[in-house]
Amino acid sequence: MNAIVKAPGQQDGSKAATLIVDNKQITMPVRSGTIGPDVVDIGKVYANSGVFTYDPGFTSTANCSSKITYIDGDEGVLLYRGYPIEQLAEKSSHIEVCHLLLNGELPNQKQFDEFRSVITRHTMVHEQMTRFFSGFRRDAHPMAIMCGSVGALSAFYHDSTDIHDPVQRMIASHRMIAKMPTLAAMAFKYSIGQPFIYPSNALDYTSNFLQMCFAVPCEPYNVDPVLSRALDRIFILHADHEQNASTSTVRLAGSSGANPFACIAAGIACLWGPAHGGANEAALKMLMEIGDKKNIPAFVARAKDKNSGQRLMGFGHRVYKNYDPRAKVMQQTCREVLAKLGVNDPLLETAMELEQIALHDDYFIEKKLYPNVDFYSGIVLRALGFPTSMFTVLFAVARTVGWIAQWKEMIEDPEQKIGRPRQLYVGAPKRDYTDVAKRA
Ligand code: CMC
Repeated sequence: MNAIVKAPGQQDGSKAATLIVDNKQITMPVRSGTIGPDVVDIGKVYANSGVFTYDPGFTSTANCSSKITYIDGDEGVLLYRGYPIEQLAEKSSHIEVCHLLLNGELPNQKQFDEFRSVITRHTMVHEQMTRFFSGFRRDAHPMAIMCGSVGALSAFYHDSTDIHDPVQRMIASHRMIAKMPTLAAMAFKYSIGQPFIYPSNALDYTSNFLQMCFAVPCEPYNVDPVLSRALDRIFILHADHEQNASTSTVRLAGSSGANPFACIAAGIACLWGPAHGGANEAALKMLMEIGDKKNIPAFVARAKDKNSGQRLMGFGHRVYKNYDPRAKVMQQTCREVLAKLGVNDPLLETAMELEQIALHDDYFIEKKLYPNVDFYSGIVLRALGFPTSMFTVLFAVARTVGWIAQWKEMIEDPEQKIGRPRQLYVGAPKRDYTDVAKRA
């Protein structure tokens, strides 16, 4: 078999690509987005040629069209609904970004007030959820609790699980954005044996989350606005990232018609992995393991040796082949938080030295490995008082709006179908069953 792909222009001016398989020519439409690379629509390749395409990890495959987030990995650009992440991190708030991602536009004042009010009034969870929590072991990883408790929401909110009803879809979206911080704080409180703290409608989204995490019933708790703003910015940085592994998981789960709470639980499970959301926890552990700056060269040498099984955590990205724009904001936030708290964390020194050494090392330069958002986030989150086991939970809180906006977009997309990849089968060909007595 020979296969040749060409991309000539069509006579009518539209773009097309040609695939030649066994001398049979198949023409495929080429679609252009607003910005970014064109895509070859291979949807009819199998029907027209009898061959599948093969792309483990979807490195060259677009699974959907989307209007939500755009990334230019070579230039280090990240846009939410067209707005650069740096501008949003500096000028916006997470709740405003939630409106932007979910509804497509920045809200005017009236829309903002309404949206904030709706989200605020959905922050409480069904009281019976507290008993659900007590079924978990106290030493359970909070991400394990999140997988279970978010999945359980579908057992509590039946009135927003009809995915065909746009009103229910919106209510479920608001519930997810509003209740995720409450569940995350409950998972944290449960793990340290403290009583749950109810949400407070007088506080903004992120300050409310901080008080649910750090207040105790026996004394007043005042949220530090500098720290609340820093965490809010961290939420903005993590709010969406186009078709990453957990978002694709949410879309795939949702493509079967599963309810949104179940889909987000699937996304949380995917996010937990160290190659994705678990990287900030892994990056901080790595910095602690390195300890003294004098150990950096030996650690970098190990990270370059494939046989060591060790990677430089917080470095490299599937899409960014340049400095992750979120990492720049995160480094700045890290400095601000440490300054405000008066903390002189030697891990920041270690991180900055490690970054410089890696950025000047041929291995990392050639492979275009730069710091990603998780390289500095662990230091900030630790300074804010969160244990490492909570880091990925915080990522989940922030990413919830991205997951739900992408889920909603998929459900409303007339081109969406159940996700069903094909495979290259390399197992045994057809063979006959043998009786156990006759097996070798
Ligand atoms: N340290 C050392 N070598 C690396 C690293 C690293 N952090 N990342 C990639 N490489 C090497 C890898 O060994 C491979 O080498 P070769 O071409 O010789 O086989 C090459 O670079 C390409 O790596 P890959 O694994 O094929 O690339 P990928 O796009 O599949 O992986 C990644 C992307 C993020 C999983 C990977 O860079 C990684 O494991 N980084 C560390 C974990 C991390 O920080 N993850 C957070 C990602 S950002 C947050 C998020 O979006 O969830």
